[in-house]
Amino acid sequence: MFELLKEQPADKILMLMQAFREDPREQKIDLGVGVYKDAEGRTPIMRAIKTAEKQLWETETTKSYTGLAGDVGFADAMFGLLMGDAVPRNCVAAAATPGGTGAVRQGFDMIRMADREARVFVSDPSWPNHITMLKHLEMHMQPYRYFDSETRAVDFAGMMEDLADARVGDVVLLHGCCHNPTGANLNLSQWQEVIDLLVKNGVTPMIDIAYQGFGDGLDEDAAGLRMVVSQMPEVLVAASCSKNFGVYRERTGLLMAVAQDPVRQKANQGMLNHLNRQNFSFPPDHGARLVTMVLDDPALRADWEEEVREIREGVLGLREQLAAELQRLTGSDRFGFIAQHRGMFSRLGATPEQVEAMRQSHGVYMVGDSRINVAGLNAKTVPVLAEAMVAAGV
Ligand code: LMR
Repeated sequence: MFELLKEQPADKILMLMQAFREDPREQKIDLGVGVYKDAEGRTPIMRAIKTAEKQLWETETTKSYTGLAGDVGFADAMFGLLMGDAVPRNCVAAAATPGGTGAVRQGFDMIRMADREARVFVSDPSWPNHITMLKHLEMHMQPYRYFDSETRAVDFAGMMEDLADARVGDVVLLHGCCHNPTGANLNLSQWQEVIDLLVKNGVTPMIDIAYQGFGDGLDEDAAGLRMVVSQMPEVLVAASCSKNFGVYRERTGLLMAVAQDPVRQKANQGMLNHLNRQNFSFPPDHGARLVTMVLDDPALRADWEEEVREIREGVLGLREQLAAELQRLTGSDRFGFIAQHRGMFSRLGATPEQVEAMRQSHGVYMVGDSRINVAGLNAKTVPVLAEAMVAAGV
């Protein structure tokens, strides 16, 4: 029977990881998949996570199942990190999921169960997996303009014009911070304008937040999300701990459904539990438990916040270095956007041919839409990328 199956296209980001591994050149530079790397090119286990892991090994007495929604302590800790005091805890249903991808998938499932005809408005461009998951679920997807390819900033007028078509029963998917793949983000007054429009038209927002702390700060990066949850009657939030806790392979994420009152919250919690049960039963616990230990212990938390700050400032420094190097090589300010963007990614605005030329000539690997993972650079490779860009005529 399996001969009936159609071959599926490989994921572009994961294909790039493979191509990089197979390239024998020593000087190759990996700016592909969204994984943080330090100056030596390593993806370290964060200090506080390593300490928590030692403590857990000493103290954990069972590997029996947790609850269907995972450990409540994880949901409480993540609620605080994401939402602060923007909304009462008893209005928020939450379930741990296998990574942020699992949270997005469960969120889409929940929307589909509520209304098979719901349209999900997705930024153009967005993380490719948003689009393929919606296709996989046979849901209606509606792209909205997001990126101005001239200025490399948000095309806010285009975005608002396209979102004005969303109606009751539609969902608008927003990136909480550090937009993937562009690096261009809404400012707070733009967040407010989006909220006003969605409130006016009765549209439900869903926020995917996977890089909290990598943009301007832990609270700063959650500011837009907090405005949304404090002003809108229902919101879905899909959060990832992969990057900001560095627990990629532990698959640690959380889906939250914010409601207006505890009665609706209870019903939403039942739905999240049900979705977990149907898709994988109990969510992975190890990463979630480490995250909880870090967030709940003042000393571990302080150390983690400090390490997130080091990562953020390192990435910002690389952005500034790259923008300055391009300014020096070209005598033009047109690459200033690289220092303005936030988070791990920037979309350079190169053509697929230019992306390919940079790979061939300088061994620089970036996603075909010219998304770079800035954290894949270091002080030595920034000039190589700048040179490759200029040589390719970007
Ligand atoms: C990325 O965008 O590179 C990351 O979110 C990793 C992934 O799963 O695609």
